[in-house]
Amino acid sequence: MKLLMFIKELTMLIKSLRGLCLCLESGSGDKLSNCTKQHIQKLLKANMMGPYGSEWAVEEKVKRREMVAPQARYIFVYWNANEMMDNAFTPLLGFLHFRFTLEEEIPVLYLYELQLDSSVQGKGLGKFLMQLVELIAQENRMGAVVLTVQKSNSLAMKFYISKLRYVVSSISPSRVDPLVGVEKNYEILCKTFDHEAKAILEVYSVQYRTARRVGFMAAFSDLKFED
Ligand SMILES: CC(C)(COP(=O)(O)OP(=O)(O)OC[C@H]1O[C@@H](n2cnc3c(N)ncnc32)[C@H](O)[C@@H]1OP(=O)(O)O)[C@@H](O)C(=O)NCCC(=O)NCCS
Repeated sequence: MKLLMFIKELTMLIKSLRGLCLCLESGSGDKLSNCTKQHIQKLLKANMMGPYGSEWAVEEKVKRREMVAPQARYIFVYWNANEMMDNAFTPLLGFLHFRFTLEEEIPVLYLYELQLDSSVQGKGLGKFLMQLVELIAQENRMGAVVLTVQKSNSLAMKFYISKLRYVVSSISPSRVDPLVGVEKNYEILCKTFDHEAKAILEVYSVQYRTARRVGFMAAFSDLKFED
């Protein structure tokens, strides 16, 4: 498959990230080793327990289920073992979890997780991985990258919005209905790659999308079918 070939090609050494010497590996939710599952859970807990606060216990269970779904695709980041004294020890430094799905009938790459170990944060790796994700999305003719961020995760918000120019999507609760949005503790962000995705996921309101659907159904209700 094209994506797998593409990710395989990207399983390479990266030597230019502000002194980091890393390698990337691809994976899928139904083929994770127990060791990888434990590393993923550890990173998630270290990074996300704070932003989720009292909701973490519930969210951790949700994330455990999401982690092993067959449609979950991964890119893992490890130290380049060849450059280390002890080749056997290769702790997970970070990972991306994404899926190909539909949002408002637009094909999108939905980024479920981007998690980096604290030792490699703030060195350009997150930005590099997001560029990679955007490339994968465009290579696979997705209209956008979509992701969810906790409002309390102010560093991540700043990272996506100020640094990477993501915008709050028109499907985010705060834009669908500001009253509901206030109650929700997350925003849905997106970056679009074509006009249709921009129109639906960035610009238009929920009222427009409803009208669009109703209009579509009305057009078909006039059709007469022969027995
Ligand atoms: C958010 C995260 C993915 C960003 O990746 P990163 O590699 O740390 O970010 P980068 O080094 O590429 O930083 C890019 C910019 O974002 C900002 N930034 C992001 N994280 C930062 C941090 N921890 N400290 C300071 N600035 C940060 C900076 O403005 C930086 O700009 P600069 O390069 O001009 O200094 C990473 O910090 C992380 O894994 N955080 C914990 C998990 C998390 O919150 N994930 C997102 C869930 S939606």
